[in-house]
Amino acid sequence: MANIFYKKSLKDLLEVSSDGHQLKRTLTAANLIALGIGAIIGAGLFVRTAAAAGEHAGPAVTISFIIAAVGCAFAGLCYAEFASIIPAAGSAYTYAYTTMGELVAWTIGWALVLEYALGAATVSIAWSEYLNKLLGNAIPYEWTHSPFESILNADGTMTTGIMNFPALIILLLISLLLIKGTQESAIVNAVIVFVKVAIIILFIALGWGFINPANHTPYLIPDNATPALLPDGSFYDYSKFWNHGMGGVITGAGIVFFAFIGFDAVSTAAQEAKRPERDMPIGILGSLVVCTILYILFSHVLTGVAPYTDFVKEGKEASVAFAITKYMPGYDWLAFSITIAILAGFSSVILVMLMGQSRVFYSMAKDGLLPKVFADVHPKYRTPYKSNIILFFFVGTFAAFVPGSVAGDLTSIGTLFAFVLVCIAVWILRVKEPELKRNFKTPLVPLVPILGVIVCSAMIVGLPGTTLLSAAIWLVAGLGIYFLYSSKNAAKKRGE
Ligand code: ALA
Repeated sequence: MANIFYKKSLKDLLEVSSDGHQLKRTLTAANLIALGIGAIIGAGLFVRTAAAAGEHAGPAVTISFIIAAVGCAFAGLCYAEFASIIPAAGSAYTYAYTTMGELVAWTIGWALVLEYALGAATVSIAWSEYLNKLLGNAIPYEWTHSPFESILNADGTMTTGIMNFPALIILLLISLLLIKGTQESAIVNAVIVFVKVAIIILFIALGWGFINPANHTPYLIPDNATPALLPDGSFYDYSKFWNHGMGGVITGAGIVFFAFIGFDAVSTAAQEAKRPERDMPIGILGSLVVCTILYILFSHVLTGVAPYTDFVKEGKEASVAFAITKYMPGYDWLAFSITIAILAGFSSVILVMLMGQSRVFYSMAKDGLLPKVFADVHPKYRTPYKSNIILFFFVGTFAAFVPGSVAGDLTSIGTLFAFVLVCIAVWILRVKEPELKRNFKTPLVPLVPILGVIVCSAMIVGLPGTTLLSAAIWLVAGLGIYFLYSSKNAAKKRGE
């Protein structure tokens, strides 16, 4: 009989994760931090920072980063405790299964699809944009945009997108890499992480000398009734509450939150970590700390080199390359290298997102909530290869036919929702199983989980209404599948 409150016992879970597990345990703490940074630094920093600064927060986008980081830190502390107790694949989904029952676990697993699968789609779309910039827009507009996007040409005609072809190609390449194996993927990831961190540090170091203090004054966007003049001669209205001052900083936090998504992906690889109890908290919190420091310095330099009004239109997309070319004469090589590093960096984000998604599906299929095909492991490579192939088609459909902004907003909401549930779950488990051995303890429970719920819920509320509606439809569809198939199949698998 289906039982929506069925909870997995921790004992079973710990036994399963320590028995002859099929996934290989190959990842060290350093690999996990690299995996985290690989998943974290991407389109959020290189695309969304400029949008947040230009339209909402100005130079104070640094404060937006701090607010988003605080929300992530609260959730990260909760994730770390779970990861230290339950060293099994599947992350937040698995945590919920032991504390809040099957229905909540399913809901989290379903929300994580928004985070990982749509996150991968969003970044592959950004990858396609940057690739086309590097190629001097050699690929026609129709083949780099979804059917929902169009542009007005100089001659007055409209061009509408057909499909985003480069986004599909990068997804295919990375899916093949993942099928080949985790360890190999981790090595490629480590190289890319090194390149992207190096280029960020280089930009901070070289750009520091080009900071114009006038661009940082005033630090918050002032409340001017008259629209601001942009470099291209058009105007932008900063007078609305969410477009200046602290209101703008808070909206900016919601936007740059995307830049932090991914640190929790480390937790999906728990079953492949060599010493998960010790290394998972280090991997999760370590990658979060490193990225926060880099983000604050990076956005300080970016808004110091170029005035924020530059980022509303012409400098919005390839913002970093734009700022270097326009305000740092003689550094064209840096603009070129940064674009290459960004392309590599986006690839590693996609890699970790796709890997995280296949691991969540792996756990859900093992529990009978999804068909068995998602848990089939390759006889030689020992990776969930069928899952990777199915995912490619699913993520590829979004990447090819949906605009990046839509996929991006849905990614944020799915992630925030999972964060909220993890914060609640850690508190529940403390009350219900106080004796459980915890190698890492979230400090100040229940204060930290409560603050995590508040900050993350606030960011959810701040997202556009249409995104909230789409996410609600997604969740309702998920509930339909759960009641029609998953709950019954899971019960059957348990022999009930
Ligand atoms: N944090 C990831 C990025 O910014 C999703 O691309």
